[in-house]
Amino acid sequence: MPSTNIILMGPPGSGKGTQAVRIAQRYHVPIISTGDILRATARSGSALGLELRAIMASGGLVSDGMMVDLVRERLQRSDATAGFILDGFPRTVGQAGALAEMLGGRPVVAVVLEVPDQDLEARLDSRRICLKCRAVYHSGTRLGSEAETCARCGVALIKRDDDNLEVIRTRLQTYHRDTEPVLAYYAERGALVTIDGSPAPDAVTRAIIRAIDARRQVFLPDPGAPRPHASKNVRRS
Ligand code: AP5
Repeated sequence: MPSTNIILMGPPGSGKGTQAVRIAQRYHVPIISTGDILRATARSGSALGLELRAIMASGGLVSDGMMVDLVRERLQRSDATAGFILDGFPRTVGQAGALAEMLGGRPVVAVVLEVPDQDLEARLDSRRICLKCRAVYHSGTRLGSEAETCARCGVALIKRDDDNLEVIRTRLQTYHRDTEPVLAYYAERGALVTIDGSPAPDAVTRAIIRAIDARRQVFLPDPGAPRPHASKNVRRS
C-alpha cells in the first residue's frame, strides 16, 4: 500500500483546517499544520515568536528557509512515514520544490479548495477558535454557549489576530500572488485535484475523499521534471 501523502491547499478560510481533521480520521495520518506550529511558537513569547507573530499579523509569509527547515524536521518523525496531511505548506513554488526533494519521489495528492473571495472574508471575520483543542467555530452558530465557549473543552473561544478585514484582504492578495503558482506546479505534474469548497462541510469532505481514493497511486516525479500531458488530469468534483 503506498503512503497517503495529502497536501491541502486553498485560500485563507477555504476550510483547510476544518477538512484536515476529517480527512486525517479517514486515512489515519497526522496533520501537519504550519499555521498551528507557527502560532504555538508565536505564543511562546520568545524573540522568534514575536517576529513570527508580527509577520502573521501583517498577512505576509514567513521565509521559505524557515518553513522548509520546520517541515523537513516534522516529516522525519516516525508518525509521518506512512503518510501525512500538510495544511498550509507549500505556499510558494520554492517550498513546493523543496518538498519534492524531501519526499524523494513519494507520491502526493494536492487538494485545493476553491471558494470565492467575498465568502472567505465573511467566514474569517466570524471565525472563532479554541486554543486548547484547536476546534474551529463560526461565530453565532452552534457555539458551546452564548458566551462563545468551546463545546468540547469549555474554554473561551478567541478570534485570531489575523482575522480582521484589513489583514484578511492582505492574506488573500498574498495567496493569489505567491500560492496560486503552486497550483500550476502540481497541475503540471498531474497531482492536483480541485474541489468546490462552498457546499456544507460534510459535502466537501465526501468530495475530497472520493477524489483522494481515486488518486492514491499518483506519482510525483523528480523536482523540475513535469510529466508530459499531465495537466489534463486536473479535475473538479
Ligand atoms: P494558516 O494558519 O495556514 O492560515 P490560512 O491559510 O490563512 O488558513 P486559515 O487557517 O485562516 O483557514 P482554513 O482554510 O484553515 O479555514 P477553516 O477551516 O479555519 O496560516 C496563517 C499564517 O501563518 C499565514 O498567513 C502565514 O503568515 C503563516 N504561514 C503558514 N504557513 C506558511 C508557509 N508554508 N509559508 C509561509 N508562511 C506561512 O475555516 C474558516 C471558517 O470557515 C471557519 O469559521 C469554519 O467554521 C468555516 N467553514 C469551513 N468550511 C466551511 C464550509 N464548507 N461552509 C461554510 N463555512 C465553512
